[in-house]
Amino acid sequence: MAWFRAPVWVICFAFLFALAMPRAFAEGTRMPMKEDSTDEFDSSTRWAVLVAGSSDYGNYRHQADVCHAYQLLRKGGLKDENIVVLMYDDLANSSLNPRPGVIINNPKGEDVYAGVPKDYTGDYVTAKNLYAVILGNKSAIKGGSGKVVNSKPNDRIFIYYTDHGGPGVLGMPNGPLVYAKDFIDVLKKKHKSNGYKEMVIYVESCESGSLFEGLLPNNLSIYVTTASNSVESSWGTYCPGMDPPPPPEYHTCLGDLYSVSWMEDSDNHNRRNETVKEQYKRVKARALNLKDRHPGSHVMEYGTTTIRNEKLYLYQGFDPFNYNASKKSLQSSFITPEVVTQRDADLLFMWKMYERLDNRSKKEETLKEITETLNHRLHLDNSVDFIGKLIFGAVKGPSILAAVRPSDVPLVDDWNCLKVMVRVFESHCGSLTQYGMKHMRAFANICNNGISKEAMEDACSTACGGYNSEKWSPLRRGYSA
Ligand SMILES: *[C@@H]1O[C@H](CO)[C@@H](O)[C@H](O)[C@H]1NC(C)=O
Ligand SMILES: *[C@@H]1O[C@H](CO)[C@@H](O)[C@H](O)[C@H]1NC(C)=O
Ligand SMILES: *[C@@H]1O[C@H](CO)[C@@H](O)[C@H](O)[C@H]1NC(C)=O
Ligand SMILES: *[C@@H]1O[C@H](CO)[C@@H](O)[C@H](O)[C@H]1NC(C)=O
Ligand SMILES: *[C@@H]1O[C@H](CO)[C@@H](O)[C@H](O)[C@H]1NC(C)=O
Ligand SMILES: *[C@@H]1O[C@H](CO)[C@@H](O)[C@H](O)[C@H]1NC(C)=O
Repeated sequence: MAWFRAPVWVICFAFLFALAMPRAFAEGTRMPMKEDSTDEFDSSTRWAVLVAGSSDYGNYRHQADVCHAYQLLRKGGLKDENIVVLMYDDLANSSLNPRPGVIINNPKGEDVYAGVPKDYTGDYVTAKNLYAVILGNKSAIKGGSGKVVNSKPNDRIFIYYTDHGGPGVLGMPNGPLVYAKDFIDVLKKKHKSNGYKEMVIYVESCESGSLFEGLLPNNLSIYVTTASNSVESSWGTYCPGMDPPPPPEYHTCLGDLYSVSWMEDSDNHNRRNETVKEQYKRVKARALNLKDRHPGSHVMEYGTTTIRNEKLYLYQGFDPFNYNASKKSLQSSFITPEVVTQRDADLLFMWKMYERLDNRSKKEETLKEITETLNHRLHLDNSVDFIGKLIFGAVKGPSILAAVRPSDVPLVDDWNCLKVMVRVFESHCGSLTQYGMKHMRAFANICNNGISKEAMEDACSTACGGYNSEKWSPLRRGYSA
């Protein structure tokens, strides 16, 4: 595994950011509060929905991202009643957490956990609750605080999601995935109900561009940026053994590259002056990670691009008092860190766990867990490949499954077909798991080529007949300590 043999690379300061910093300091002394005569600072409300789609200590980084985002918005002046947080909340008290009750999102970072509202935690972090929260539909909510985005026509909404994903889907710690079509339909509904003035959405996941390509119209007053385009991974960062590493007692990644890029940018700029576009450009430059041996990812933008010209504080808030304070904790931001793909970050966690254990029987257990995870991944990859060959023939199968549609066409025409094919696959071959979401494009292409459910059943049962899928029940998310 390439990431495992990675040499220690030089930390490179992204010179763009370094150049921008002295200016940022200078502007703090002459903040033009009165210039904002046309803004709706007082007449409208800023809302935010923050979602971490994973659970388990090996996925520490996603919930850490969300906690950081919460602190940033709070310091910016958004109120708790207007910030809805969906996160599993299994980190702070985890036996693996070296600092009980504390979550950090940066190697030198402070606690970002204190005060985070527990709106939807554990079993209540679901796609259905997310949709109901955005739509402001209290009666559709199950469990949790019942807090929803009860927004008015003049309000602005900021949505931030971080987790594993795959073509056309975002992960959730419980139950069904977020399917792109369902998510976009929720946004359309919200627009139809006149529930906001403008919306900005940031999404970190693998293949996150595929959530919006060919699906999000540009006339909904929604501007989106994603960590990656529709065919590439997004990246975890601040990982053990990498540069910069987390504090030595941590053996899990603390953040994700796109996520820490936008948040460290927001923390360190005057958001009354910085535009959404400036942030997009800076985050794009940093997430490309050009100075690293890894390729990084291509941050993309979708939807109503005129929103780019607005100032960031309209979505993320801004408070000059807190801004000065945050500048002191600038620390390791703006570097180009070493990274690991979302899908390898889980394995890295397990290996680091293995390395540090001295209890022999626990070590063996962990190694077994690693072996099983690798075997299941191989099994998923081979099964999908096999199914493709059974359906489309040995020569054409692989290329038909891998075919990428033009960027103005959605991943799949019939989203219900996609859901059915995934169910059929899982019933024969075991849970896709976080890792297996990468095969969504294959299932989409099976649908796009008009294959029937019966033909898929036959192929799956041939490919996976006898596979003990029980160990990988749909609820199993991966390694649990
Ligand atoms: C606002 O940002 C622009 C562009 O980055 C910069 O040129 C300008 O000096 C900044 N204005 C203030 C008041 O800080
Ligand atoms: C932060 O900077 C603003 C603008 O210059 C100033 O009004 C405020 O007093 C400063 N706050 C602190 C805590 O230094
Ligand atoms: C973590 O433990 C503290 C102290 O026992 C408790 O108050 C808190 O509710 C726990 N949090 C979670 C998420 O279980
Ligand atoms: C809210 O959710 C309930 C339950 O799912 C549904 O019956 C109702 O139509 C929804 N209301 C709106 C305004 O969408
Ligand atoms: C947005 O544009 C699409 C396609 O041009 C159109 O079908 C739809 O009705 C428009 N929606 C709104 C809300 O204007
Ligand atoms: C090692 O871990 C096992 C459980 O996994 C436990 O039963 C055993 O007591 C531990 N041994 C030591 C020496 O701590």
